Amino acid sequence: MCGIVAYVGSKQARPLLIEGLKRMEYRGYDSAGLAVLNGKLEVCRAVGRVAMLEEKLEDAPGFEGTLGLAHTRWATHGGVTEANAHPHRDDKVGIALVHNGIIENYAVLKTYLKEKGHQFHSETDTEVLAMLIGELYEGDLEHAVQAALREVTGAYAIAVICEREPDTLVCARKGSPLMVGIGAGEYVVASDPSAIVSHTTQAFPLDDYNVVKITRTGFRSSTVENVSVTPKIMQLEMDLEQIDLGRFQHFMQKEIFEQPAALRNTLRGRLQRTEGKVVLGGLSAYAKELVRARRIVLAGQGTALHAAMIGEYMLEDLAKVPAVAEYASEFRYRNPIIEDGTVVIAVSQSGETADTLAALNEAKDRGALALGVINVVGSTIARETDAGVYLRVGPEVGVASTKAFTGQVAVLALITLFMARRRFMSTEASTRLIDEMLAVPDKIERICEQDTHIRDVTAKYCDRENWLFLGRGYNYPTALEGALKLKEISYIHAEGMPAAEMKHGPIALINEGMPAVFIANKGRQYEKVMSNIAEVRARGGHVIAVATEGDTEIKKQVEDVIYVPDVAEQLSPMLTVVPLQLMAYHAAVIRGHDVDKPRNLAKSVTVE
Ligand code: G6P
Repeated sequence: MCGIVAYVGSKQARPLLIEGLKRMEYRGYDSAGLAVLNGKLEVCRAVGRVAMLEEKLEDAPGFEGTLGLAHTRWATHGGVTEANAHPHRDDKVGIALVHNGIIENYAVLKTYLKEKGHQFHSETDTEVLAMLIGELYEGDLEHAVQAALREVTGAYAIAVICEREPDTLVCARKGSPLMVGIGAGEYVVASDPSAIVSHTTQAFPLDDYNVVKITRTGFRSSTVENVSVTPKIMQLEMDLEQIDLGRFQHFMQKEIFEQPAALRNTLRGRLQRTEGKVVLGGLSAYAKELVRARRIVLAGQGTALHAAMIGEYMLEDLAKVPAVAEYASEFRYRNPIIEDGTVVIAVSQSGETADTLAALNEAKDRGALALGVINVVGSTIARETDAGVYLRVGPEVGVASTKAFTGQVAVLALITLFMARRRFMSTEASTRLIDEMLAVPDKIERICEQDTHIRDVTAKYCDRENWLFLGRGYNYPTALEGALKLKEISYIHAEGMPAAEMKHGPIALINEGMPAVFIANKGRQYEKVMSNIAEVRARGGHVIAVATEGDTEIKKQVEDVIYVPDVAEQLSPMLTVVPLQLMAYHAAVIRGHDVDKPRNLAKSVTVE
């Protein structure tokens, strides 16, 4: 979603800001802009990619200065136009501001400011905040920002500069991430650590309602009420190599192929094979609560929800605890019942998804133990939970989530075993499953070796505009995930559903040559899936089956087969999803789409 980067120091801000924007391009955006303080404010904005902004700047003289801020916008209020792109300004005082989030009471504030004589040039809520800061300015930018934010409801991460204070950058946060990187005599502020790590690895995240005033010689942190606070400085662990493409064409492709290594990292040091035990440092203090848990609610959105659904199946099947996976956005607003012994697990790659955060807070307020299954260390959700387990799959840059999905399923399997072994599961059964888990990375490697075959199968069908993805049991969520991947990056309409549900309506869609992807690996419901395959083929549908190695019979019953190694059914989604990820990837490439910057999507959705 929107990205912020700001700089104060001794270097030229403009190239640095552009580099920061480029690092955050993966998050998804539709326009970009930048402001540099060069005696006066100089602002440049462009619709489209950061490259368009760069092109515009090439023809623009000036923009020399060592204090500046920049933004990539993902439209919420007002269309994708240059006038709506950030930075927004207040010309009375000479303020430039960039903002992520939504100012909910912007309409009331706008009326007030219009009465005061302000003229607006955009449809955005952000411009209202810039004008409000200008209106409240009495010679001190930090105080004006604090005063303005006391009037605001909603979510924000902001960076602000002012012509009258050429040494000062003020930033603030509520509900939308922002981090201050501390270099030698310079500071880089960004909404995403990827824009900071090439300059410094020392940083601190802003907490909600915190404001920080930064000059070239130091910084001061306070609340919006002007009470001083001491930030917690941390070491950023991201390595630049991890966010470079290496030998790959796209981040999504790189991240699919990275899954074996990523999962080895997820599992490292967490499995004690002979005792059949799982060691999860983050959860050890809550082991008793987990053993006694009476109900688990797993909340997430998008891909994270699909992983959560697999978690639900595993927890009930193996740990024998009632579990339910829910859209965080629905859970939050449906007045959920949280009884004693309820544990809520927020599942999120970024740890910043606004709906998931809101669901977690709602559950916490109602007395639930709040756990996180998160990838980004130190993210907002990770900080808000009582405890959790990190995915450790490294930064995920591709907008279409891949390695985070398999990481989430792996961590949910670890949590399941952590509980199951302490509740009902024998050492032998647990050890068996641990062995199966340890073998998953090698098995994914074997699937990746079939990349060319998977591409050829995809090429046969990728001119079709409607696809079905069908699976049962543990692979019903995999079917949902396969359909989501295809939609996200190749813009093909796809529906995922339980294979049995097809005949309750969607079967009407099947016509000659319609591709139907079946997850038909060996498992408890194999025979039933085969019947569903027959139903589709009887109506002219073309079936692509993801099947278990050695199942030669299925070849006779379907158009195309992609084989995956055999594995315990509960863990099978970590394998069966890989061909679906690769199919979506190849379909998008063949259709000529920008895989890492899919239209309209954002990597991390920080508005509800
Ligand atoms: C966005 C992304 C999806 C992602 C979802 C949840 O919609 O485009 O790929 O699955 O958010 O993100 P999270 O960071 O919470 O896992």
